[in-house]
Amino acid sequence: MAALPARTGSRLSRSRDLGRNDHMNLKLFELHSKRQVKSKELRAHAEPFPGRKIDHRFIVRQETKEVALLWFVVFPSEPYLVIYKLYVAGRYRGKGIGSELIRRAEIMARQSGRSRILVTPKPITPYTTREELVAWYERRGFSRLNEGLMYFKDVPAKNLLA
Ligand SMILES: CC(C)(COP(=O)(O)OP(=O)(O)OC[C@H]1O[C@@H](n2cnc3c(N)ncnc32)[C@H](O)[C@@H]1OP(=O)(O)O)[C@@H](O)C(=O)NCCC(=O)NCCS
Repeated sequence: MAALPARTGSRLSRSRDLGRNDHMNLKLFELHSKRQVKSKELRAHAEPFPGRKIDHRFIVRQETKEVALLWFVVFPSEPYLVIYKLYVAGRYRGKGIGSELIRRAEIMARQSGRSRILVTPKPITPYTTREELVAWYERRGFSRLNEGLMYFKDVPAKNLLA
């Protein structure tokens, strides 16, 4: 996996290094071609290919299964990482995968020298309302930014790998 642009000289570890302390055995692989995704459901959410340089799209595998897609955007000189899309495949929801991917995004933010994660909770499927999504992010430590649609979470250097 390519390193994200660093702000402070730190480098992002290879995706497999992010598996430390991972009881769920999730592995993230950065996508560069749609051929890397077998699941039609997940591929549809990863398009278009090729992406922009600032896009980092990861297929998330649990052993041999493709379970989720995590897509974030990193601007070269901004102190934050933006979650553009978090999508857990329908049959794998409610098992803690989304929560674990938020934790991984926190680790990647820190490793690339960012201290904040931003997200605009916006339902991708008709099964979740915006209010439910907002509540889901708030339970994971996000707060509303400037009375707008965006939410943020600051990511302190310590305890991320605990
Ligand atoms: C929103 C979404 C990403 C959440 O992912 P998820 O994997 O279902 O989320 P989690 O399993 O971590 O959390 C869901 C609930 O299941 C619970 N849960 C059930 N089994 C669990 C387990 N084994 N371990 C941990 N949590 C578990 C969690 O406690 C959580 O409840 P809470 O929110 O009241 O704390 C997912 O539903 C999704 O992809 N939705 C469709 C796409 C979409 O709209 N994305 C929004 C983009 S902003």
